[in-house]
Amino acid sequence: MTVRINPSILAADFANFEAELQRISTADYVHVDIMDNHFVPNLTFGLPMVERLQQVSPRPLDVHLMIEDPDRWAPGYAEVGAFSVTFHAEAAHDAVALARRLRDIGARAGIALKPGTDIAPYLELLPEFDQVLVMTVEPGFGGQSFMESTMPKLVSLREEATRSGLDVWLQVDGGITESTIAIAAGAGADTFVAGSSVYQSDSPAAQIAALRAAAGA
Ligand code: DX5
Ligand code: ZN
Repeated sequence: MTVRINPSILAADFANFEAELQRISTADYVHVDIMDNHFVPNLTFGLPMVERLQQVSPRPLDVHLMIEDPDRWAPGYAEVGAFSVTFHAEAAHDAVALARRLRDIGARAGIALKPGTDIAPYLELLPEFDQVLVMTVEPGFGGQSFMESTMPKLVSLREEATRSGLDVWLQVDGGITESTIAIAAGAGADTFVAGSSVYQSDSPAAQIAALRAAAGA
């Protein structure tokens, strides 16, 4: 199975992003959390920062938008060259139209679900998305505990992807460690966001390798 490890720079030193990005050069993608203080009760940074990170990052950017009105803002992240742009189902006005727009610009289109959001209405829309992000914590903060109660959504997604022959990436985000990553991989995830567990390690590269192994790569 292909395993992708995407460290979240939410757990990095915000005063040293260029050096912090170099510490995770063995990752697959760099996960960038955009928070607007409205969709979630926390604020990070926006488009000009992503544009600059894009220029110095050793790996392509996987942008996770935790913002209101992604229909308005998400295309800009694709336009500055983000590899993937994931917006929340709960915030989008027209998720399918937005995903098509992101793909037209040249980014992979992702849809994210909070822990309490049902997957059922989205299963038939799966061909419209390149990736689905199942949040394994309430979005807004790093360092929270993995919610195993979200795993049935991954099982449903994996079943639907297999049934319809779709190469859609199934991502988890929140509380991913060497122990929880195996649970998520077993449920069908193939793309893993890890903030604290990577950046709190003395050796992010060793931790990325350990996560990869624990996921069954
Ligand atoms: C939470 C963010 C996550 C966060 C994960 O809202 O979407 O990407 O950085 O952090 P950890 O791995 O510490 O749970
Ligand atoms: Zn995230």
